[in-house]
Amino acid sequence: MNTIESQNVTDYPNSNTIFMVWKLNDSPELKEVFQELCALVLNLNNSVFNRFPDSRASCVMGIGAEAWKKLELPTPPPKELVNFEEIKGTKHTAVSTPGDLHFHLRADNKSLIFDMAVEISRLLSSVAESILEVHGFKYWDARSILGFVDGTENPHGDDRDYFGKIGDEDLQYKGGSYLFVQKYLHNMDAWKGLSTEEQEKVIGRSKENDIEMSDAVKPSNSHIALANIEGENGEELKIVRDNMPFGNPSTNEFGTYFIAYSSTFTTTKKMLTNMFIGDPPGNYDRILDFSTAVTGTLFFVPTRNMLDEFSG
Ligand code: HEM
Repeated sequence: MNTIESQNVTDYPNSNTIFMVWKLNDSPELKEVFQELCALVLNLNNSVFNRFPDSRASCVMGIGAEAWKKLELPTPPPKELVNFEEIKGTKHTAVSTPGDLHFHLRADNKSLIFDMAVEISRLLSSVAESILEVHGFKYWDARSILGFVDGTENPHGDDRDYFGKIGDEDLQYKGGSYLFVQKYLHNMDAWKGLSTEEQEKVIGRSKENDIEMSDAVKPSNSHIALANIEGENGEELKIVRDNMPFGNPSTNEFGTYFIAYSSTFTTTKKMLTNMFIGDPPGNYDRILDFSTAVTGTLFFVPTRNMLDEFSG
């Protein structure tokens, strides 16, 4: 590869997703298997693109801070790659949970990513343990399980690369991305206890038609009031989100897998701080009264060139 090629971090959302988080063991075969894994990830993407070019299927692998050291990768860890430190507000906490490798598999046709997950798991299970697997799906017109359309204010066009990938500010890791994930569980009984008008005040948008409330009526503790942040010069700061709903109705487990790619983790962290600590402190995001973060992990997504290098 002569030019910088990113993994498929800025692809648009599609209908099916499998998320997997793995913990690496202290196995003597670890490095060898990891080399094979990097080659497998490149192979899976090339193959699906060749065989089913319209499937919008891809596999993105992220690497956690401890794994980066354990694997003794040839370059130092990217500067913002650390173990995520929990963010504790007066009422809610963005917990920090372990994770060495993260896989984000996307496709419109689930069979494609199911087979990818099988191949990855077959290879990894000799040197790693699965700590989380979530199968997300597109719910109606891109609605979260809470019933509100999710993803509307995501960046579009060139802005996806600008906000989602590292640029010239860090040439060594240009084309890479900081990946942050949280598995949220929703208290649907409490949520359904709210009227539609009350729910709309929690999100800051209308439920049926997905229209943003004017600043005059949007509550300061609504989700979009706190998640919408600006830089020092008043410029809007964005991240590339691809949240996916999941659920097991028979066990009353409903949730959102929050996933964000960004050129700098600072932006995501600032949003989390606004949500959990509040702005001003104490004025926390009301969505958290109905949604509990049960995981929280930061990863780095290397470029395809780096995966090629890591594959030996
Ligand atoms: C907007 C849902 C967690 C960042 C939204 C919207 C919904 C939503 C329905 C409005 C439509 C849109 O523009 O996408 C959720 C759910 C979450 C969650 C169900 C988990 C329970 C988070 C977290 C962050 C975040 C953890 C950041 C760390 C944003 C941003 C926007 C947004 C930046 C756009 C704000 C704007 O500019 O209007 N979210 N979200 N969300 N969310 Fe979340």
